[in-house]
Amino acid sequence: MDRISLFAPASIANISCGFDVLGLCLDNVGDLMHLQKSDTPGFRITEIKGQNLPLQTEKNVAGVAALAFLNAYNKPVGFELQIDKRIKAGSGIGSSAASAAGVVVGINKLLGEPFTPLELIAFAMEGERLACGSAHADNVAPVIMGGFTLVRSTNPLDVIALNSPLELAATVIHPEIEVKTADARAVLHNKIPLKKAINQWANVGALVSGLYREDYDLISRSLVDEIVEPARAMLIPGFDQLKENAKNAGALGCGISGSGPSVFALSRGMTKANQVAESMAEVYNKIGVPYEVHVCPINPNGVQFLDSNNA
Ligand code: HSE
Repeated sequence: MDRISLFAPASIANISCGFDVLGLCLDNVGDLMHLQKSDTPGFRITEIKGQNLPLQTEKNVAGVAALAFLNAYNKPVGFELQIDKRIKAGSGIGSSAASAAGVVVGINKLLGEPFTPLELIAFAMEGERLACGSAHADNVAPVIMGGFTLVRSTNPLDVIALNSPLELAATVIHPEIEVKTADARAVLHNKIPLKKAINQWANVGALVSGLYREDYDLISRSLVDEIVEPARAMLIPGFDQLKENAKNAGALGCGISGSGPSVFALSRGMTKANQVAESMAEVYNKIGVPYEVHVCPINPNGVQFLDSNNA
């Protein structure tokens, strides 16, 4: 096999209580990537459609993730990449993660899968380091492993694939402004009152338990963020109203998607998730904020290889 096309999905990091540790993979929303082997060793990006991003390997998140892979592989192989970028940069649904994770999964496939998913996550994290200065794994892990993931540790890297209840569906609303992850991290407080930390880790444990027991009420009770959301909410237009509308429409929970400005809700079933989307959209229709909405199931597979018919 000399060439491959793939779908690199968007993702939701944090999932309210799990800042930098929890993430989930979205279905239907994502980038397309086309990767070919080349006779010239090294890695080159020859085209990026849809977004104005650097083609230069060292300045592009897919480029640095690919270089991390090729340095570890340590044999003279060459690749060229084209990206059809459909996730907007700075939208909060893992734009950089899709590029970084997609490229390393694709190269791995073309080379006969020399690396494990955990090793691929480590390469993709280099893309996140370039994007925001912090090599967090909570977006790249679900893009590579699918479903819900928990990053227990980044050093040494230890990532756990969690159960994804089949009926869970996600709603994501993206107000069309850009919030850079680095800026959204800069507003966070470095010290946390012990009581808030206790509540937060209780909710992370309970959410993981809720996912395994497929206990939607427990999932709902656990989708609470006492630490990061209060600091970041002011970056998002109409955040409190979005949350109230989502809850009133029957969402299990609602919070900031990754570092924002997208806001996500989780619901039981696609019908409910669509109703939640309508109620969240009402907020932006009323205050005149342009937006995009996505409603989709949780993607259990992560990056998906495409045949020539749907590439
Ligand atoms: N956990 C990261 C953050 C995700 O919230 O800053 C960024 O996409």
